[in-house]
Amino acid sequence: VPIHTALTRRFALQHPIVLAPMGGVSGGRLAATVSNAGALGFVGGGYGDLAWVERELELVAHGTTRPWGVGFITWSLTPQVLDLALRFKPCAVMLSFGDPVPWTTTIKASGCALFCQVQDRAGAAAAVTAGADFVVAQGTEAGGHGGRRSTFPLVPAVADMVAPTPVLAAGGVADGRGLAASIMLGAHGAVIGTRFYASVEALGHEKLKQEIAARGGDDTVRTRLFDLIRGHSWPARHDGRAVSNSFIAQWQDRQPEATRHTAELNDDFRQSQASGDVDGAMIWAGECMDLIRDVRPAAALVHEIGVAAEMAIRRAQALSA
Ligand SMILES: Cc1cc2nc3c(=O)[nH]c(=O)nc-3n(C[C@H](O)[C@H](O)[C@H](O)COP(=O)(O)O)c2cc1C
Repeated sequence: VPIHTALTRRFALQHPIVLAPMGGVSGGRLAATVSNAGALGFVGGGYGDLAWVERELELVAHGTTRPWGVGFITWSLTPQVLDLALRFKPCAVMLSFGDPVPWTTTIKASGCALFCQVQDRAGAAAAVTAGADFVVAQGTEAGGHGGRRSTFPLVPAVADMVAPTPVLAAGGVADGRGLAASIMLGAHGAVIGTRFYASVEALGHEKLKQEIAARGGDDTVRTRLFDLIRGHSWPARHDGRAVSNSFIAQWQDRQPEATRHTAELNDDFRQSQASGDVDGAMIWAGECMDLIRDVRPAAALVHEIGVAAEMAIRRAQALSA
């Protein structure tokens, strides 16, 4: 029996699953594959590189006739990149990390649904005030940038706070049990990142995807190292969760020194990223790596996670029958 929620009804989805807008990883091919499989694909517009966004949005726009979206890191967004994205007629825009207010009028006037990804109650209140159609409550378990609260208590707290605005859970969901649990916590679906990084259609070196399949949640660390050496001005309350490796071990506690060598370190990790050298690359990934043991086609993931969640909910019903 399919799970019907405000998310599935709004976008006519088969499963209450959203592909996280992972910068540089959720490209147009992955987003289109996820949308074609009956979930909602988002392209990860990241810091808004115009050429990258244009190329990937062309791919998703030509790759599916189903609804899809695009996500941006709010504090880095510019009118130019938003205008470019809206020309491709997405159905949804997700804004994460920063004040959505300057962008909401343009996004809503285009007919897009506005998703705001938040990390705490203050962020949730700001999202509703800004007119969010969906609030994504992101726990610290998540891969990539985020905050300090955990998914399990944050999702129901935000759901209570922002009702009747529907909430989605992000952070730690990689299988049907996690999706079913998100629904039980009051969410209308889950935003899934790390699990889809380890998918055939994700952008990124094959060896980095295999590393996600090989490592576990104990092997992650929250870090600012990569932001520091890339010169990205992230607000102080956000760091990011990545796979720990020799590069992080070497520099994590020597950040003042790292700032004096940013050019070399930038070159080093970018080379590692391109060649798939897991010891030196920046591999954003979450605690749910424990549940990921292979790199799979994204459409199979959507189907398996969706069907397993339906079964988990049926099993839960049987407990009290
Ligand atoms: C590789 C990677 C890159 C990410 N990049 C972004 C991003 O550019 N913008 C954003 O809003 N969230 C980004 N995220 C966070 C996701 O939106 C989402 O909150 C997270 O993946 C959910 O947790 P999970 O990884 O446990 O599924 C990223 C996550 C990962 C794993």
